[in-house]
Amino acid sequence: MLVLGARPQFIKSAPLIKELSAHKRITLDIIHSGQHYDTEMSRIFFRELKIPDPKLNLRVGSGSHAQQTAAIMRRLEGTMKEANPDIVLVPGDTNTTLAAALTASKLALPVGHVEAGLRSGDSTMPEEINRKLTDHCSAILFAPTDTALRNLRREGLAELTYMTGDTMVDSLRLALPFVKRAERAVLEVFGLRPRNYLLVTLHRPSNVDDLARLRETYNALTEVGRKLRVMFPVHPRTAKAFASLTRMTHSKDSGLTLIGPRGYIENLSLLKNASCLLTDSGGMQKEAFLLHVPCVTFRSTTEWPETLAGGANRLLTNPKMLPEAILAVSGDDGLRDDIAGLRNPFGNGHSSRKIVDIIRKTLQ
Ligand code: UD1
Repeated sequence: MLVLGARPQFIKSAPLIKELSAHKRITLDIIHSGQHYDTEMSRIFFRELKIPDPKLNLRVGSGSHAQQTAAIMRRLEGTMKEANPDIVLVPGDTNTTLAAALTASKLALPVGHVEAGLRSGDSTMPEEINRKLTDHCSAILFAPTDTALRNLRREGLAELTYMTGDTMVDSLRLALPFVKRAERAVLEVFGLRPRNYLLVTLHRPSNVDDLARLRETYNALTEVGRKLRVMFPVHPRTAKAFASLTRMTHSKDSGLTLIGPRGYIENLSLLKNASCLLTDSGGMQKEAFLLHVPCVTFRSTTEWPETLAGGANRLLTNPKMLPEAILAVSGDDGLRDDIAGLRNPFGNGHSSRKIVDIIRKTLQ
């Protein structure tokens, strides 16, 4: 059984699902928690990544952390009991991940955590709590990087851990031919030229729930917009916060283009051709690194410290410092070449196969 429910989980699970489905002796039940439910946040990824329809959608929707986590657990328990799977796979660090891991482990079903061992060191992040608790109630841990492996060793979990690399590299490898075909048209739609715009994604509570901070960030982005086009696909959480900034009047001439969340291929097309990425997403820091795009991460910590090598990624929390930091790396072709020369610490794009092989051997 594979339990997923939020955007990054659809992306990182797609190659794993493909690999699992290729084995005749494996029966796969996909359960969608319904944590993300819009076409833009969920359905488009099932379509684009050819993920089979889930066996069941728990339709939990949004709510506080406790409500969301508890609702998933309550709705999942009966399903797990009835299906009695040999293993329950949980990818990533969302509330869905933790809820599924807890439910399974309390039913004495073995849990396999895909993307285990990540630590930002910031326990105010809901995802950090989800990561730690999920790792500590899992039976098999699939570590995406050497850093993750070391973290798990330090926490006494070495015996359960396998170093597999990151399935998001698999997803990227499978998507790149489609990106190559789509990118020109994507840029044309928005009137963009390659390496001539900043791409922004922000959705962490620490950045978007504090409206004064969000306003400062918005002002910093309009300052960047005077020199460089800014493309900002807005996450629903951020859109809600923007909407409540009642006095925030967005001008179309600000150089800042606000659009809805994009699908995977369109998002990668925008990222690949950007001169810089400003983000607080974990996955996008890595994708920028792999596509050699300089990145500024609007956080004080990262669970992907490998991306900081050679100045490829820089951590920053003060909105006032954003314009200078972004403009310093945008259009720096030397930096791009340096990033291209760095070792890829995230695996060779065949992590899903490794994970499936380990599962098959363990369950034999
Ligand atoms: C969640 C994950 C985060 C992941 C992110 C990717 C947790 C704790 N956080 O954060 O790790 O990086 O997803 O997007 O699990 N909403 C919609 N439509 C949707 C989905 C959500 O409008 O399809 C709204 C919800 O009503 C809610 C807000 O967006 O108000 C946030 O959704 P939520 O699932 O709570 O967490 P994310 O911030 O998306």
